[in-house]
Amino acid sequence: MRFTLNGQSQAFPAQGLKGPAILLDVLRNHLGLRATRLGCGQEQCGACHVLVDGRSVPSCTLPLWAVEGRKLVTLEGAAEIQGEGSRESAVLQILQAAFVAEQAAQCGFCTSGMLISAAALLLQTPKPSDTQVRVALDRHLCRCGAHNRILRAVHQAAATWDLAVETQRQAQHG
Ligand code: FES
Ligand code: FES
Repeated sequence: MRFTLNGQSQAFPAQGLKGPAILLDVLRNHLGLRATRLGCGQEQCGACHVLVDGRSVPSCTLPLWAVEGRKLVTLEGAAEIQGEGSRESAVLQILQAAFVAEQAAQCGFCTSGMLISAAALLLQTPKPSDTQVRVALDRHLCRCGAHNRILRAVHQAAATWDLAVETQRQAQHG
């Protein structure tokens, strides 16, 4: 089966895997992409979220067949992606910089999922309200209690991203 992963077309032979192939297992254990974490394994903690066609979804229960033909971006996609996935890459870079600036990652276990859901939000809503940020991150647990720093980081990133989107819009429309 085929899908796009961080801007690259990916062919993955689902046969040969034991049991039904789950996206998180494929990413971490077969493709070597370890930024996406396994927490609860039950769609309850947010650690395993990835972008599928721009939406933040848990990968710990997602069957591989469900991403056939889809565009996937993991946190590794924050490294430069050209073409498909370049917007996701750009917003993830801005978010990462803001998380560093606000020291929003402590142990870092929740960070990948937080960044992915924040990216999905900013792709849809470049200038979110505080409530929209809280709702977007509502299903993500942080055992270190870094929530306030994380919220500040997302707002900081939103300001940068909104400016970038507006600058691009003006360049396109004169
Ligand atoms: S590991 Fe998927 S939501 Fe917790
Ligand atoms: S930074 Fe440790 S769980 Fe969030």
